[in-house]
Amino acid sequence: MSAISIRTAIPGPRSRALMARRHAAVPRGISHAVPVFAESADGARLTDVDGNVFLDFAGGIGVMNVGHSDPQVVSALKEQAERFTHTCFSVAPYESYVALAERLAAITPGAFAKKTLLVNSGAEAIENAVKIARHATGRPGVLCFEDAFHGRTLFALSVTSKVSPYKAGFGPYAADVHRVPYAYCYRCAYEEKFPSCAFACVSSLEDHFKRYVDPQTIAAILVEPVLGEGGFVVPPLGFLTELAKVCRKHGILLIADEVQTGFGRTGRMFACEHEGIEPDLLVTAKSLGGGLPLAAVIGRAELMDAPGPGGLGGTYIGNPVACAAAHAVLDRFESGDLLRRSETIGIRIEARARAWAQRFGVIGDVRRRGAMVAVELVKSRETKEPAKHETDDIIRMACERGVVLIASGTFGNVVRFLTPLVISDDELDEGLEVMTECFAAVAPQPTTH
Ligand SMILES: Cc1ncc(COP(=O)(O)O)c(C=O)c1O
Repeated sequence: MSAISIRTAIPGPRSRALMARRHAAVPRGISHAVPVFAESADGARLTDVDGNVFLDFAGGIGVMNVGHSDPQVVSALKEQAERFTHTCFSVAPYESYVALAERLAAITPGAFAKKTLLVNSGAEAIENAVKIARHATGRPGVLCFEDAFHGRTLFALSVTSKVSPYKAGFGPYAADVHRVPYAYCYRCAYEEKFPSCAFACVSSLEDHFKRYVDPQTIAAILVEPVLGEGGFVVPPLGFLTELAKVCRKHGILLIADEVQTGFGRTGRMFACEHEGIEPDLLVTAKSLGGGLPLAAVIGRAELMDAPGPGGLGGTYIGNPVACAAAHAVLDRFESGDLLRRSETIGIRIEARARAWAQRFGVIGDVRRRGAMVAVELVKSRETKEPAKHETDDIIRMACERGVVLIASGTFGNVVRFLTPLVISDDELDEGLEVMTECFAAVAPQPTTH
């Protein structure tokens, strides 16, 4: 029996009416991937206010790795809400925060003493990781990457790459931010090929340190192990290892932004594990809270202790209801086979995407790490001109046919998959079949090369 059930035009009448109210009451600066309003969600299914049932291939932007309304998560947060919802950890602390700090320190890469700061969002965690790195090293600079995304607060935006719509009009940005190309092999900034390039994107850092900035002033290199919003760009294995060497040589800290890659998205709990990398500080959020706002900075104890009492904090940091949800998320990972499932889902999506690439010339590149699969659309495989409109058309058509999808990429031309890891094979295949129809409608011409 099919999971998708579309009963009205998309958007349906109730969603349309709500959208009219939304436009009057909410700033236009917040955009929506799909024009339907949610009523309920369960596992990998999302029901809108008109009774249409969609397969959710977006997972609230990578937040629902354990699935919507997971019974363990729901019961944990209900139970906590009945006891207390807030005391402020900086006023009256509670055990669940401490226990979560311990658990996160135990599961993150690095066999050294660690401490954990819990905050509310990915951006807030990035802000704090940089504060800690600066305090610990006494250095001001941060080196970050082209096509990176680290959030929407002002420092997080300073290290974010994409100009429109994220940065344009919101400056000035923080000083001492230095940006270099990522290992985006499909669009290599050095026009090299892997592996003959020998990681030119990393070795060029030494040149950067001669021409642009003194490495002794750099506190940290901030890197996503796989670019998220930047287009699910999967660097060749070895990229992070080479970066870590540069860090060690110059006394620079390595901060891994695992906000999107964390909690099983790449088939490992954290994407750094694919290379055995031990970042000095690891930032995570999204699927940690199973849908509740929660983020963490986990790092070497001596670095985390650099700021003095009162130097870190916030009213809502590590909210007890969010902590309860996170404990249930960790239980789900410990007792289930979600990590294996992540790899299996990824393999299944990639196989279908490669079949699409055989048929549809609009597909320029398919890449994957675990369940993090990207399909990059181009107008021509020779010029690699990004096909943003075609990508938008696919997202729109998929929604009309019952699949919630989102795009990514600096050029907005990458279809990405962020399905809950609990999606069944039947649900996944049904959604992928819908996408085949969408690609056929957008790019009917056969591949010629
Ligand atoms: C890699 C990465 N870092 C940071 C953030 C910011 O997280 P938040 O939206 O929770 O502030 C995001 C959000 O998409 C992200 O993908």
